[in-house]
Amino acid sequence: MTKNKNNKAIWSTRIKSGTSTIFQRVGSSVDIDKRLYKEDLDGSVAHVEMLFKQKIISFKIKNKIIYGLKKIEKEISYKKFKFNKLYEDIHMNIEKRLFEIIGEEAGFIHTARSRNDQVITDLKIWLRSATKEIDISLDKIIKNILNLAEKNIFTIMPGFTHLKNAQAVSFAHYLMAYVEMFNRDKKRFNYNLDSLNENPLGVAALSGTSFNIDRNYTTKKLGFKKPTNNSIDTVSDRDFVLDFLYAISVCSMHISRIAEELIIWNSDAFNLINLSDKIVTGSSIMPQKKNPDLLEYLRGKSGITYGNLFSMLTILKSLPLSYFKDLQDDKEIVFKSNDTLLGCLKIFEEVLKNFTPNKKQMLKLASSGYITATDLADYLVKNHSMSFRKAYQKTADIVNLAEKNKINLEQLTLQDLKKIEPKLTNEVLKVFDLKNSINSKKSYGGTSFDNIKKMIIKYKKQK
Ligand code: ARG
Repeated sequence: MTKNKNNKAIWSTRIKSGTSTIFQRVGSSVDIDKRLYKEDLDGSVAHVEMLFKQKIISFKIKNKIIYGLKKIEKEISYKKFKFNKLYEDIHMNIEKRLFEIIGEEAGFIHTARSRNDQVITDLKIWLRSATKEIDISLDKIIKNILNLAEKNIFTIMPGFTHLKNAQAVSFAHYLMAYVEMFNRDKKRFNYNLDSLNENPLGVAALSGTSFNIDRNYTTKKLGFKKPTNNSIDTVSDRDFVLDFLYAISVCSMHISRIAEELIIWNSDAFNLINLSDKIVTGSSIMPQKKNPDLLEYLRGKSGITYGNLFSMLTILKSLPLSYFKDLQDDKEIVFKSNDTLLGCLKIFEEVLKNFTPNKKQMLKLASSGYITATDLADYLVKNHSMSFRKAYQKTADIVNLAEKNKINLEQLTLQDLKKIEPKLTNEVLKVFDLKNSINSKKSYGGTSFDNIKKMIIKYKKQK
């Protein structure tokens, strides 16, 4: 890059003593916000086209500026552009370079605009494409879970509450719970797209502009729905950043929950799943070990994304209107959360392809812990006209009897059962069958095999 007339920040015209080098170092954000260069250039092109349409700048100047901006785009994409920390951020780096390429007429580009509206325009446009990328990754995750679920409709496992055996469920049903979560994540990200779809460009520093600009024109050009309504709110607002960070936090929380489940199920104590060698690591001292490090990585990352959300909330707390330098950190936080989540989604996709349920052990565990007790209580209500509370009491007595004899419910004989409820017949024994138990949960959203099949078909059709 050739030297500018004076190698100084643009705003330094009235600041005589020169900024201290330490402030130059901490105040510069170009290392981070250069990631917005494409969005910044697009925003500038739309802006100068609007300025020309409104007869604020001439045809010749507009073309010159656009020529310069296109050249800068090439330089940056071919890594030929020298970013200079002295020019603070991506906006000033581009403007400085524009001066070098087209000369003094570059000065028209910043008519009726401020970096305050420019930076949010860039960030909003960037968030749109980032959200699309996350959405695509979430679709892949959902597809992988559906495939796994499809193969495991008849895989029986214990459903837990308090991590104690509760009721038998299909492993597919368990997996499909996560499809619900990731679908809600998709919605959450898309709500945010909708609410950030207002064009900030043209509110300038904070109060609007005396130039006769057309904000509807740039709105259309940049793919927004409408211009923002209040110039002060516009430059102060980072709600769309919070919403994005929150959506990321919730999504990474979902990943951390399934990661934790898989870690527990992979433990030697549970042994409900096997992880392939692709997703485990060894120990430097214990030769026998295969550790679920990747799952632990996924579980831990939610700590980072929550931290980022809290950083931004804290930056915004009590911040008066309108623009303050405090806000500059929003981009670093957003990029970090975005990259963390995308990384987690990629790893999680690998995990989904690299573990298998240990069906025998799942069934064995599901056969313990008196897991069909609720089925027995329901049976008593339906067939022996008892209230549920009465049936609950009788069933508890039956469980106590099994516990006393150190056997499972299905090992009790009809004679044993009749000691507690004389009216019982042979028919009762079918309630202890796990398949019957699962298949009886036909209420909408329940774990019956038919329900799951239908749900998988429904979600597969949506893709
Ligand atoms: N780099 C700045 C930021 O990201 C751009 C806005 C600067 N505005 C200002 N008045 N200093 O926040």
